[in-house]
Amino acid sequence: MRKTTKQLQMQVASNQKLVMVTCYDATFARLVEKADVDMILIGDSLGMVIQGHEHTIPVTLDEMIYHCRAVARGSSTPHLVGDLPFGSYQGSTDTAVENAFRLMKEGNVQSVKLEGGAQWTPLIKRLTTAGVPVVGHLGLTPQSVHQLGGYRIQGRDEETASQLKKDALALQEAGCFAIVFEGVPATLAAEITQMLAVPTIGIGAGAACDGQVLVLYDLIGLDERFNPKFLKKYAQLHENVVD
Ligand code: KIV
Repeated sequence: MRKTTKQLQMQVASNQKLVMVTCYDATFARLVEKADVDMILIGDSLGMVIQGHEHTIPVTLDEMIYHCRAVARGSSTPHLVGDLPFGSYQGSTDTAVENAFRLMKEGNVQSVKLEGGAQWTPLIKRLTTAGVPVVGHLGLTPQSVHQLGGYRIQGRDEETASQLKKDALALQEAGCFAIVFEGVPATLAAEITQMLAVPTIGIGAGAACDGQVLVLYDLIGLDERFNPKFLKKYAQLHENVVD
């Protein structure tokens, strides 16, 4: 039986951190399940680490479904979160809802993740009312890379920090059961974690979040070129593979 949204929230309430990693295929899904991760994110980061794109924008819904199905076949206990890719929810709300249904029905995930703040509250309300659990994603939102002008820490000044807090509250109010914070100052992420009732999951957002998520290929050291400060490499597998 896979972990439910309620179980994940109860785990945080009993002071146990959430462990989430990304995963894109059945073999790695089997391995990360053996390592007892709580949640697997089938992230659209697959556009970069699997497909070799410079950003996540080209990833399609059909490609996400393909990888979600593989991960679902390779694991049976972690909660699976599937990313709604760029263009699959930014158009009409009706299309976004249909696409979220497809990700759940065809991809066999238990929840979906989308990027952005208060502008998505009507959509999130519709999804959660229809029985689709939603994870929010704030801060450095890679699908907006061209708007943000690069992969930069977000919420550094008072105005953007205050906007992030408002967005976090709006997502919680709309029904998100957890929110990912990417590339946010540690003090701000800590403050937001205190403020919210739902779990926060950080990546490059300090240690105070209720959980952490890392891209699997980064944490096992498959890409020797990627060395951000927040990344703990648990292995240096690129050396073994090259050898
Ligand atoms: O696509 C992804 O892997 C993500 C994580 C970086 C949070 O969204």
